[in-house]
Amino acid sequence: MSAKYLVTSALPYANGPLHVGHLTGAYIPADIYVRYLRMMGEDVLFICGSDEHGAAITLRAKKEGIKPRDIIDKYHPINKDCFEKLGIGFDNYHRTSAELHYQTASDFFLKLSEKDVFNVKLSEQYYDEEFGQFLADRYITGTCPKCDFHSAYGDQCENCGSDLSPTELINPKSTLSGATPVLKETKHWYLPMDKLQDWVSEWIEKQNKSETWKKHVYGQCQSWLKAGLQERAMTRDLDWGVPVPIEGADGKVLYVWLDAPIGYISATKDLTDNWEDYWKNEDTKLVHFIGKDNIVFHCIIFPILLHLHGEGFILPTNIPANQFMNLEGDKMSTSRNYAVWLHEYLSDFPDKQDELRYYLTANMPENKDSDFSWQDFKEKNDKDLVGLLGGFVHRTLVLIQKNFEGKLPDSVNDVAGETVQKEIDHVHKVLNDLPEVINKSIHNYEFRNGLNEVLNIAREGNRFLNETEPWKLLKTDKEEGAKVLATCLEVVSLLAVYLEPFIPFSADKIKAFLNFNDNDKSEILKGNYTVFRTRKVNQPEHLFTRFDLDAYKKEGKQVFKTMEAALKAKENAIAESTPAVTKSIAPIKPLIEYDDFAKLDIRIGTILEAEKLKKSKKLLKLLVDIGIEKRQILSGIAQVYEPETLIGKKVVVLANLAPKKMAGAESQGMILMSDTSEAFTFINPEGEDSPNGAAVS
Ligand code: MF3
Ligand code: ZN
Repeated sequence: MSAKYLVTSALPYANGPLHVGHLTGAYIPADIYVRYLRMMGEDVLFICGSDEHGAAITLRAKKEGIKPRDIIDKYHPINKDCFEKLGIGFDNYHRTSAELHYQTASDFFLKLSEKDVFNVKLSEQYYDEEFGQFLADRYITGTCPKCDFHSAYGDQCENCGSDLSPTELINPKSTLSGATPVLKETKHWYLPMDKLQDWVSEWIEKQNKSETWKKHVYGQCQSWLKAGLQERAMTRDLDWGVPVPIEGADGKVLYVWLDAPIGYISATKDLTDNWEDYWKNEDTKLVHFIGKDNIVFHCIIFPILLHLHGEGFILPTNIPANQFMNLEGDKMSTSRNYAVWLHEYLSDFPDKQDELRYYLTANMPENKDSDFSWQDFKEKNDKDLVGLLGGFVHRTLVLIQKNFEGKLPDSVNDVAGETVQKEIDHVHKVLNDLPEVINKSIHNYEFRNGLNEVLNIAREGNRFLNETEPWKLLKTDKEEGAKVLATCLEVVSLLAVYLEPFIPFSADKIKAFLNFNDNDKSEILKGNYTVFRTRKVNQPEHLFTRFDLDAYKKEGKQVFKTMEAALKAKENAIAESTPAVTKSIAPIKPLIEYDDFAKLDIRIGTILEAEKLKKSKKLLKLLVDIGIEKRQILSGIAQVYEPETLIGKKVVVLANLAPKKMAGAESQGMILMSDTSEAFTFINPEGEDSPNGAAVS
């Protein structure tokens, strides 16, 4: 066991509100971990705060014609408030705009600079002449050199995940003015990560041995290492951020990914004068909770910085990053406003914090992406919370109220009859196994599993109730019935304690039903739960209610309105980008007989070659395999289709049309297409059941 724990959650950018994906990624898991450790009496600090620098904030300010300060002063309190309402128990929710942070980050940089860690270099960088600003990171977009994605950023391609530098982009554009930038010389401080490649590799191996890292975290690190670490600039030409504390560096600030993690340190300093007892203490276990997009910064760059800085800073033991959560099968998106926003949820459902915490834990994207679905939310709420947990607690306490006025007699401590006692022993075994199982899950960062294990004792309680049927026993042998209920009460008392890390609000309610006192928790943690058999209990209320999804939608709760609006906007965008169909429908031609139709020989074929015809703007020359032979067919689609996109396409061919010469070439058939006189598209005979040569009849 470590002497101390220092637990951090990624500092969210204060440029907008938070959604359920953030919550399940880096905040709920950290909170469960911390609550559990505290419950076990560990010495823990839980640190977070707003990340108030970086392009996400300055770009938004520029677009809206306001100051970065206006944005951060708006969202810092909103986000802080959401965390508080959800019971996320940070010891400090600090800000990187605070004076103390500026000082800390500045000193940190200076120390590295004095140790001659950086390569200080002049280099040519893109510059937006209209805005008079250098363009790094998100200030510049262009085509990704690796995957051809058209809007890759200057630091990263979100399509293929490649790490990029602005000069690698093809056809770069400034995101400020939209103009093509020019190259201009500027000076920056580079972190020579290449020189630390071996150190990082060894360090990761060592960490991974002492406490296994998640596969996807370790895997991402390995792929960075395999590609070879490269130097990275730790400064930027910007007017918002921590100024570079060196003479001659006017107009330059620290790179946000240098400044923000140092925010963990300044937040700790702000909290306690004893901050070095944590940050510079070999017996402290440092754990960073983050989302997968932050892995490289926490697993490679920040450890390098701490290592080079020296002065005894500890390095993280583990970085249990989570993957992403989708919403109803689609990526959540801040720019499209497609998300379940925490402030909206909390105002729609001010008393359902635990319901959200429960769902986000049961569905946590621990090792792969997961999906938030309202129907699933409703089902889990109704089944697990209302039915199982709420049902078991309520049934137990109501039976004790009704039959024993809230207090079971001392005789419940006597041994029961053989069959009932056997069942009781079984329950006790499950209860006795719980602490170790939970402990293992939590220390392996398997919170879904941990929660499920706690629910398993309620499942066992329910099974036991149904097996022993105390409502019947009470009529024939009241003492025996009381012994059954006493065992149920033991289960409820364990639930009160072990649910606390996961759903603290409900755990508190159960504790109130049981008249919990300060000592009770530690007795239960020691395994002494027998005192609860004869505990005087209160009249219970229902812990949970059914989630009436349809009614909430009808009432117009904001969370649903927001999602619907985003979906509608997406539909409209798709409709607008699809050309209008069948504006003019041609009238039906005069009737023909079957024999007339039978004269047409229509076949399935595949386009093998396609090229433009020199003498014609309209015609493409195609070579089409129609099963029995290959045909050269001219088709008037050159203005609509690029030839290379047609290779391999399956088509429907009129094969016995008399050959015809056009633009100096012969056409030996005709490709049939859907034709609205405004647009024409291919008829699509895909699949094995439409082989080349098959007749259309
Ligand atoms: N603001 C970053 C993000 O939302 C996270 C910063 S974490 C820290 O992706 F390490 F920099 F603090
Ligand atoms: Zn790419």
